[in-house]
Amino acid sequence: MKIILLGAPGAGKGTVAKLLSDFDGSVQISTGDILRAEVKAGSPLGKEAKSYMDRGDLVPDGLIMKMMEERLQKPDCAKGFILDGFPRTTGQAEALEKLLEKLGIRLDLVVNLDVPKDVILDRLTTRRTCANPDCQEIYNIKSKPPTADGKCTRCGSPVVQRADETEEAILFRLETYNRKTAPLIGFYEREGRLRHVSSISSQTAVEEIKKALKSP
Ligand code: AP5
Repeated sequence: MKIILLGAPGAGKGTVAKLLSDFDGSVQISTGDILRAEVKAGSPLGKEAKSYMDRGDLVPDGLIMKMMEERLQKPDCAKGFILDGFPRTTGQAEALEKLLEKLGIRLDLVVNLDVPKDVILDRLTTRRTCANPDCQEIYNIKSKPPTADGKCTRCGSPVVQRADETEEAILFRLETYNRKTAPLIGFYEREGRLRHVSSISSQTAVEEIKKALKSP
């Protein structure tokens, strides 16, 4: 599958993307995960991105597009990909259209994961993430806890709260989403390529996406 997952912070994009990837081997491409790994590695991109990310703001489009142009040409994308957290601005969406045309890639579907606001706030304050940049498994202290001593059940690394999970940064991320990313719903609706899928249950969302892929 070649799909885009849209949705507010905490809508469950990462959780649904991992389930879809386990299903058919399509690679999950999360711009957030890539950026966090760059920050951890202390690369020039990571150093530039860190201050934007910590305050919950978006990293500039130019940096994201350069990163994604390289990522989408890696051999593992040939069997399919799930774009998680990208595109995030109208500028990125327009640049992505051009990039896909240049690479001769056709998207199957754009999915908007719908979740009520109160659920989103609760999920973001209770989320925990594996600190290993190669794993980044997502946990939740209520719905999917790590081991009793706070370790990742996949790789054994410590499970931590992200730097952008302070109340201030969460509120700023939600505000940034409403201002810069929510307009993408209209962008893809106008193109007739958008499906709205409820993400209250990730498993149900995955089943709906599989169905939509069979009859786009
Ligand atoms: P990113 O990592 O993409 O963060 P986000 O969009 O804010 O999304 P989240 O990862 O917070 O949430 P999610 O929807 O993936 O939810 P999850 O599955 O984890 O980006 C971080 C930062 O990087 C940005 O702020 C920006 O600075 C930068 N960035 C990234 N991409 C960029 C781009 N394209 N352009 C510019 N800047 C960019 O679920 C949340 C929680 O809920 C978890 O605890 C999970 O276990 C739980 N949960 C999920 N589903 C369920 C369910 N059905 N039932 C119960 N619990 C659930």
